[in-house]
Amino acid sequence: MTSVLVLNGPNLNLLGTRQPEIYGKTTLADVEAMCAAHGQTLGIQVTCLQSNHEGALVDAIQDAKGVYDGVVLNAGAYTHTSIALHDAIVGVELPVVELHLSNIHARETFRHTSFIAPVAVGMICGFGARGYILALDALIGHLGGTS
Ligand code: DQA
Repeated sequence: MTSVLVLNGPNLNLLGTRQPEIYGKTTLADVEAMCAAHGQTLGIQVTCLQSNHEGALVDAIQDAKGVYDGVVLNAGAYTHTSIALHDAIVGVELPVVELHLSNIHARETFRHTSFIAPVAVGMICGFGARGYILALDALIGHLGGTS
């Protein structure tokens, strides 16, 4: 069975209460439940992880090799700073779909740079929590599924 990791980075554990006017009122638990339910619809296994720590995210990407077929990654603020996450994605050669709830290109200029984008299959941003569903569909489509 196709298996996908949904990996969330720093401060995404605060979803629902953190700047709801930007990130919405959906909690991380809601997002993870949505991803699991959508995984069932697609007939795939979805595992969700979140960490506030860059090294733990690097570990999760490294550990994904051989276990998952691809990754949906919302690296939060590390998107804009982390060469380590960029290198980890290159290192494991797994397809990664970059995801942001907000439209990072319509926000502060420091959010316009992504170290993930050059090594991702593609990016989905600006669609709120629904973006996770779109990202799963995009990843499964990329892997050769029907979505
Ligand atoms: C975010 C956008 C980032 O710029 C920000 O640092 C986040 C969340 C998003 O989902 O819109 O933490 O990745």
